[in-house]
Amino acid sequence: MSETFDEATTLKRRTFVAASTAAATMGAGLPLLTSDRLPTSALAPADRLSTVRLTVNGEQRTAKVDNRTSLLDLLREHLDLPGTKKGCDQGACGACTVLVDDRRVNACLILAVMAQDAHVTTIEGLARGGVGDGGEQLHPLQQAFIDHDGLQCGYCTPGQILSGVACIAEGHTGSRAEIREWMSGNLCRCGAYTNIVSAIEQTAKEA
Ligand code: FES
Ligand code: FES
Repeated sequence: MSETFDEATTLKRRTFVAASTAAATMGAGLPLLTSDRLPTSALAPADRLSTVRLTVNGEQRTAKVDNRTSLLDLLREHLDLPGTKKGCDQGACGACTVLVDDRRVNACLILAVMAQDAHVTTIEGLARGGVGDGGEQLHPLQQAFIDHDGLQCGYCTPGQILSGVACIAEGHTGSRAEIREWMSGNLCRCGAYTNIVSAIEQTAKEA
């Protein structure tokens, strides 16, 4: 009995290994077709879909999404704007910070349908001018991050910059301590905090 079981198990293992090896060699470079990678609208029944219309970086955009789609996934997966980063996906790190009607929000914490008719600004929309206009002009805070080395790996940077833009607009830049306090929702695993504060301080002084 146990021999038969062992044989069957070995066979299954061999079949699995052979299939995996074939897939790995033939499928190198192919996108993964797991359910995580499918747009949520491809998985939801029609009665759970909503059409979201909003303005993103000055452009009217429309997408049909599962009602459960977060604003973060709408931006990244449906509108092809991957500049907004997904860190924790539960409101703890600030990597997904964007401006909604000029207020900073964690895009992973609100549903896309809640941003109906809103004006959203992501890192892709912060620089002024496009290639056709003779090249982009960085937002002063983007330039300040470069001047002060306010980043290392850069993963938290889009969220830090959007949050910094709001922090300056809100007037929470009276001191380095105040900037630190009002930027405390944006974590940086590389520990670039001192330089991030310097970048915000410089931009606020020059505004
Ligand atoms: Fe939204 Fe971390 S990804 S707060
Ligand atoms: Fe790496 Fe902030 S620069 S996490």
